[in-house]
Amino acid sequence: MGLIETEETNQFTFEAFAAHPFYTNINRALVKQALAHLTGRPQNARLTIVDMACGTGAITRLIAEELANQERLASAQIIGVDPSAEALRRAEKGMETLPFKAQARFIQGEAEDLPRLVQNADVAFFCNAIHLVPDKLTAFQQMARILAPDGLFACNSAFYEGTYVPGTERFYRNWTRRAIGWLRREHPEARVSREAKAMAMQWLTPEQYIDLLRQSGFQRVETEREDVNISLDAWRDLGQYWLFIDGALPGVPLAKGAAALEEAVYQAGQEIGLTEVPRNWLQIVALKS
Ligand SMILES: C[S@@+](CC[C@H](N)C(=O)[O-])C[C@H]1O[C@@H](n2cnc3c(N)ncnc32)[C@H](O)[C@@H]1O
Repeated sequence: MGLIETEETNQFTFEAFAAHPFYTNINRALVKQALAHLTGRPQNARLTIVDMACGTGAITRLIAEELANQERLASAQIIGVDPSAEALRRAEKGMETLPFKAQARFIQGEAEDLPRLVQNADVAFFCNAIHLVPDKLTAFQQMARILAPDGLFACNSAFYEGTYVPGTERFYRNWTRRAIGWLRREHPEARVSREAKAMAMQWLTPEQYIDLLRQSGFQRVETEREDVNISLDAWRDLGQYWLFIDGALPGVPLAKGAAALEEAVYQAGQEIGLTEVPRNWLQIVALKS
């Protein structure tokens, strides 16, 4: 994993992208779908909800919001876990902006750390990050292990086989190509490392995700594919996030990669004649029993 934080990576966070309304909507839909499974439980039932890979806390806040809607905030604790210390600092701050008080703790760690951090969780989320995890089976097994027997797991991604809407592949190809062209002209010393690129591009099909979840002990797996429209401005903001830059232009210094992606994104959009690029989001809810 390229997850070594520096002062440089701290400047290229996910927050700007995560603030786009489409992103809130798609994730809110998953949070609602998952937490709807709590309906049968007593109103004052103690709940433990894990937000794995919580990052800067976009999903953590949506979880709190939905618990507030269900009037379950008082009896619920949320545990946000992420390997990035900088993201966790921002997540913690973000909770203070909510119009209500939620019991949330943020802990630095990865999926493998979960079993010693939490047991018998009722719900666990793993949003927009599973594609970053090389060993997905082990990660799912760890999620299953920390859940109570009637627990459920929710996960989503827009980096999987099938995420491209037919006809839009050209946008991504042109975006990278133009970005590399710009780098060659402006910063000829910055080189893209091909080997790293191959690793970042191993995307799973929805069927493979379902299969891995079944193997991890989830009895029932619901998947949905949702179409979203992502504006060029939103893509530009994603191009300012260090893990995305590292995936698109591996080995390139972040500031240069970010500048190249920003420069190239509008050109790539123009070339396919779109100001928004449609994309499919894979939404998964898996139940242990
Ligand atoms: C794109 S952000 C998603 C943040 C948040 N869950 C959301 O949906 O908005 C991806 C997050 O995954 C985390 N991450 C990267 N590699 C990881 C790994 N191997 N295990 C767990 N989290 C990881 C990153 O630190 C980052 O915060």
